Amino acid sequence: MMNKMVAPSLLSADFANLSKDIEMINESDADWFHLDIMDGVFVPNISFGIPVVEAVNKLAKKPLDVHLMIIQPEKYINTFKAAGADLLNVHYEACTHLHRTIEEIQNAGMKAGVTLNPHTPVNLLEDIIDLLDLVLIMSVNPGFGGQSFIENTYSKIEKLRNLIEKKNSKALIEVDGGVSTANSAQLYQAGADVLVSGSFIFKSDNPKNTIAQLKK
Ligand code: DX5
Ligand code: ZN
Repeated sequence: MMNKMVAPSLLSADFANLSKDIEMINESDADWFHLDIMDGVFVPNISFGIPVVEAVNKLAKKPLDVHLMIIQPEKYINTFKAAGADLLNVHYEACTHLHRTIEEIQNAGMKAGVTLNPHTPVNLLEDIIDLLDLVLIMSVNPGFGGQSFIENTYSKIEKLRNLIEKKNSKALIEVDGGVSTANSAQLYQAGADVLVSGSFIFKSDNPKNTIAQLKK
């Protein structure tokens, strides 16, 4: 019962023609919109914020998967819910009281995901995995699109798949960074349910077709 889902990252979209790219995703085989929020503190880059999420939500016909690369994400749970987030991803490394934050996200009416940086081992999720809707494994260091995929990701996916089965968790496994058709099949095979892809989709000649290719 493995999923093969794709969440295009708007970080690589054309911000001067965002509605065009949102329409393309609406009409494509994509499952979710992936929105990358960066604060210039947790990661060394600043992307876009709440007004952009609200604008995307007006046009998007698929769920919004919001990836918070910010410190103190617990401060903004209700704000992102109001902006239209369906799934809120917080970084393990940014949450002192992760259990409380996950409960607050779910009580606000959203799915809750925990994101792991490349150096963060999956076994740190042992005592929270049963509560999670999703785990997002970073396959690059977060902050920028267009970086190269870290090969150790496959073994992390396999370890996480084992933990999810052992704990009878419903959590989906999502992978983010350097995803292309060069690694998509192997990522699904390792146990990934959802692949995020930014530059590979938006730099291709036919993004809609590229999204379909990523689901194979
Ligand atoms: C990176 C972001 C990613 C980014 C992926 O920090 O979390 O979602 O957009 O971009 P690509 O697919 O180009 O690696
Ligand atoms: Zn992301």
